[in-house]
Order: sequence, then structure tokens, then C-alpha cells
Amino acid sequence: MSNSAVKTPMASARIDATTSAAEDHRKSLLKRFVACYWLRPENAYWMALRSMALSRVPLASPAIDLACGDGIFTFLHSGGAFDPSFDVFQSVAALDRVRSEHADMFDHAAEGYTPKVVQAPTQRMAAGLDAKPALLAKAAALGFYDRLIVQDGNRPLAVEEESFETVYCNAAYWIEDIDGFLRELHRVVRAGGRVILQVKLDSMRRYNLEAYAGALPEGFLDIIGRGRLDCWPSLTDRATWESRFAHAGLAVEQAEPFVTPTHARIWDVGLRPIAPLLVRMANALTPEMRTAIKSDWVDLFCELLDPICHEDFSLESQPDEPAEIQYVLARSS
Ligand SMILES: C[S@@+](CC[C@H](N)C(=O)[O-])C[C@H]1O[C@@H](n2cnc3c(N)ncnc32)[C@H](O)[C@@H]1O
Repeated sequence: MSNSAVKTPMASARIDATTSAAEDHRKSLLKRFVACYWLRPENAYWMALRSMALSRVPLASPAIDLACGDGIFTFLHSGGAFDPSFDVFQSVAALDRVRSEHADMFDHAAEGYTPKVVQAPTQRMAAGLDAKPALLAKAAALGFYDRLIVQDGNRPLAVEEESFETVYCNAAYWIEDIDGFLRELHRVVRAGGRVILQVKLDSMRRYNLEAYAGALPEGFLDIIGRGRLDCWPSLTDRATWESRFAHAGLAVEQAEPFVTPTHARIWDVGLRPIAPLLVRMANALTPEMRTAIKSDWVDLFCELLDPICHEDFSLESQPDEPAEIQYVLARSS
């Protein structure tokens, strides 16, 4: 046995302390995401998995968050925390059109929207960009982005070339002109900087009920899915993502799967079909009652999701393609 394999009591205590610090961080992250997204717990664990993967790559400044939405994900990822009275289901609209028209309930900034922050993030983002002005109005209320840009990612980005050390995006598969978008990422990242993309794979189609469309009555999948696959025009397989990166002059430095087929199957149904009804119910409660029920709900879901919220969690009998991968890319030309 080599010396390095011998665990001294002190070394073993250090390893235990590191493991327990990582475990504490994972649990606290899950709790912060569940508290914000409590009525969609399946989104909460997916976001916590994203954040855990992202924690392994520094978001060197200046950094831009593309398709940042309301900014809550990146704010929580960066160590921010809200008062338990805040969650993303308070400033919503069009709840009666979510099912019939696939309306985005979050695309609305209520007057006076001011999330109560109890812990500031440990770093700021230089910029955030999104196509929806109401989501950016919410992001502005966080005081976390130096600059916010309303624009469609299918067009040339309104930012200077080579202006960011880090370009982060967890929604690239929402962009139709994906090749143009990737060329833009290459243009705006600095030489020596990193592009970090978290992309879903089209294996997702096999991990959801769409795969059984022939056996399900008309309307069933519309209730379950609410047209979410229509929002992902550039969803594709791993080989195609990597050839897109190569065409845009981006070299893959790291490719880390972090969402398993089992995660995707659990997420597939989740509470999505009843979310607008849950939101209406929750928002009809007195603030005191809402906070009390939410507190028990969050505790219950943290306990339930704790074993699931590990990036290798799998109940499959055979290994299969992951559902989402984190790519760290650098300019190759
Ligand atoms: C699933 S959300 C993710 C938001 C945020 N990154 C997060 O993690 O919460 C997808 C985001 O992509 C934005 N988006 C979709 N298509 C876009 C486009 N063509 N240009 C810019 N943003 C777009 C949407 O407005 C939405 O905010």
C-alpha cells in the first residue's frame, strides 16, 4: 500500500469535514430553490442540480447571463437568499390562459415588485439579457445585474465584442437561430474567457409521456406538457450540440452530464398541470396562512427531494443518455 493510500486520523477528519460542508451546501441550496419555486418542486430540484454543476466552474467577472429571465436562478446560485415570505408565484398573471393558450404566468411584473433579500449574493453579474421586458423588470428589482438588455437572442447581441470573461446561458435550446447565437457567444467572450452552456438533450423526448403519444387520448399530453417542447426549437443530441460548437469556433473543455433520465421522468409530470390552480389557491390565502402552509410544504418537499437531488440519482436498469449537460467552452479560433 502506498503512503498516499494510508488515511491518517487527521486526513480522514479533513475529508469528513469537506464532505459534510459539501452536503450542507447541497441541502441549503435545495432549500433555497424549493422555497422560491415551492409550487413547482420538480423545477426546484432541476435548478438545484444546475446550480451544483455550475458551482464547479468560476463565473469570472465580467459575466453575462443570457436568457436570464427574472434572474432568480442566478441570484440564488450566487449565494443570495430571500425572506421565506417571497416566492416566484406572487407576481404572476394570465393564470386563466396558461392551459388554453400556454401563456407564461411569470411574464408579468407587479407594481412594487420588491423581493425581500435576507442575504446578498457573493458576486454580481455585469449583464443580463432576455427577450421579455417584464422578466427583466423583475431582474432589475434584485439589484444584482449592472446592466439589463431586452432583446431577442435570434438577433446580433447588443454588446461589444470580447466584453465578457464569462458568458453563461441555461436556455440556449430556446433559441431558433442557434448557429447565429453561438457565433455571437464566440464574438462577445474574451480570448481566454469561458462560455458555459447548460443544454437539454433530445433524449428528453424519450423520458417523457410524449413517447407514448399513440397510446394516450387527445388532449392528455396537452394537459401534461402545455406545449413545452414547442419552446425548445434547437433541442438536439449530444453529437449535434458539439458539432454546432465546433462550427462556431468554440472548443469543448468540459462536458458534464448532471441530469439523469430518472430526474427527467420525475420532472415530466410533476405539478405542472395543476400549477395555475395551486397558485390561485395559494394567492387567495392570508399572508400569514400562506407562509405557514408554505413552510410545512417546503420542509416536506426538501425531505422528499433530498435523495433525488444528486446528479447521479438513477432508478434505470440500463445506462442511457443524460437529459442535460453542462459544457464549458473556450474560443478555438
Ligand atoms: C426557462 S427560462 C430560463 C430563465 C433563467 N435563465 C432561469 O434559469 O430561470 C427561458 C428564458 O429564455 C428566454 N428566451 C426564450 N427565447 C428567447 C429569445 N429568443 N431571446 C432571448 N431570450 C429568450 C425566456 O424569456 C425565458 O426567460
